[in-house]
Amino acid sequence: MSGIQLIFATNNTNKVIEIQSVIPAGIQVVSLAEAGINIDIPEPHHTLEANATEKSTVIHQLTHKNCFSEDTGLEVAALNGEPGVKSARYAGDNKSFTANIDKLLSNLLGEKNRRAQFRTVISLIWNNKEYQFEGICKGQITHETIGTNGFGYDAVFIPDGSDKTFGEMSLQEKNAYSHRKKAVTQLISCLQALTAN
Ligand code: IMP
Repeated sequence: MSGIQLIFATNNTNKVIEIQSVIPAGIQVVSLAEAGINIDIPEPHHTLEANATEKSTVIHQLTHKNCFSEDTGLEVAALNGEPGVKSARYAGDNKSFTANIDKLLSNLLGEKNRRAQFRTVISLIWNNKEYQFEGICKGQITHETIGTNGFGYDAVFIPDGSDKTFGEMSLQEKNAYSHRKKAVTQLISCLQALTAN
């Protein structure tokens, strides 16, 4: 597999860094900024799947090139799956990661059930056809922020099998557990199959 170029339909630099760290050399992932595309892609839907499709479709219609997007949510059991698809805007539009974490921890105050999962849905558009992949990482929410690495809710999430939050991990350590890495692994396998002949 070589010479594959894919536009990654996101403005989130953290996601670009994470995905570029697990993509093999034969696939070039081009961010929107690198592709010279400056748009705010909407996420108007009620599911990660629909938002992922929306983002890849918008960029495909604009560029007519192969591309992919991803939508990720933190699904907390005691909050009936919230913040889920609203993870980026949990504390309101244009709120910071800190404000979102504060709201999450305050909604879980006194709650013993800290179970949660990150779920990533990737939408690939390859030769005008869409493919979707899902990656899940199960774990638990801490009672306070621990660690300063990563982004979003990383500092309050401990994946099963570890005693550290994502916020305490290097990128390589996070990749050993991460929802995003699991979804990207399926994306890579699909591309290998699609380009095998
Ligand atoms: P979206 O997929 O761009 O809608 O982002 C959803 C929100 O979930 C982000 O703004 C982050 O706050 C959070 N998020 C997504 N992926 C991760 C992750 O890997 N770790 C921690 N938080 C994340």
